[in-house]
Amino acid sequence: MSQFLAPVLDDSEDELERSLRPRTLNDFVGQDRVKEQLQIALEAAQARGEALDHVLLAGPPGLGKTSLAQIIRNELGVGIRQIAGPGLERKDIAAIVTSLEPRDVLFIDEIHRMSRAAEELLYPALEDFRLDLVMGQGPAARTLTLDVSPFTLVGATTRTGLLTTPLRDRFGLTFRLDLYDASELAMIVHRSARILGVEIDDDAAELVAARSRGTPRIANRILRRVRDVAEVRHEGAVTTLVAEEALTLLEVDGAGLERFDRELLRAVVEKFGGGPVGLSTLAVSLGEEAETIEDVYEPFLLQLGFLQRTPRGRMVTDLGRAHLGSLPDDGRLF
Ligand SMILES: Nc1ncnc2c1ncn2[C@@H]1O[C@H](COP(=O)(O)OP(=O)(O)OP(=O)(O)O)[C@@H](O)[C@H]1O
Ligand SMILES: [Mg+2]
Repeated sequence: MSQFLAPVLDDSEDELERSLRPRTLNDFVGQDRVKEQLQIALEAAQARGEALDHVLLAGPPGLGKTSLAQIIRNELGVGIRQIAGPGLERKDIAAIVTSLEPRDVLFIDEIHRMSRAAEELLYPALEDFRLDLVMGQGPAARTLTLDVSPFTLVGATTRTGLLTTPLRDRFGLTFRLDLYDASELAMIVHRSARILGVEIDDDAAELVAARSRGTPRIANRILRRVRDVAEVRHEGAVTTLVAEEALTLLEVDGAGLERFDRELLRAVVEKFGGGPVGLSTLAVSLGEEAETIEDVYEPFLLQLGFLQRTPRGRMVTDLGRAHLGSLPDDGRLF
């Protein structure tokens, strides 16, 4: 896949991404139902002076889960501790949870990848704001119970299906983020362009939006590449022509697919007769992890109706075949 659109960020990209991050619910474009419910819950918690209920944010990468966690913290005017689920140990949880101030936010990213032991330590903390620590071993072991400040756990996951039921049940608020539509993405592109000081035509913003796979992070990343092309090869302003030139360089086609998306579709058609092919077989043939294919690439292909999930495996639809067939052989994408 294109290096520019890779899901893993280096540090400089990370910093730019932070600068584009919405800070308040008002800044956060789209996901209206989520915002409305969250607004009410925030106001109610504020009015009662209580910690907000625990919040679970689910959805594909780059749709705003981390942004929402920070917005919750900003709206509440409290502190935040951010940790990643994988590799968390019981002692990390104990140290972090006991250091929280009342009503603080504890943000656990990739919460579905937390160990069972860490998770079980969290249960009483989430329910009764209490930690049960086992000291010593064997017959001499005893349990030390510590009170902790009432806090809000915000968990982010790309897949709710992988969460255990007891953990899922402890979230009072569960929000599923959906891919954004083109007009919302165009608003995000305009907003980011303003922050980056880039002049961009409406048509060009719409073009970038339409090629962003429903994902704000990708819209922002394409915008930055478009800005590079505008600055290096043109006068600086982003017109449709400039945007098209950049998208061609990035190998983003008319449907917004990147090279890897097309490889995936082609693999199913050419190596597996259009499917059905099992996810793991497909993953091996593409040299990519099954989880990445499922979380990062499939949601958009499914949304476009190019790919189908059936009980017997993945299939490319007639629409998907038509898209592949419509691409010129000479490598041009427009
Ligand atoms: N609703 C939105 N409005 C404006 N910008 C947004 C919105 N959602 C996301 N973004 C932009 O997209 C970028 C990526 O969002 P964020 O990091 O919150 O996604 P994420 O869901 O946490 O992704 P991951 O699953 O990879 O951690 C943000 O830096 C922000 O600039
Ligand atoms: Mg995130």
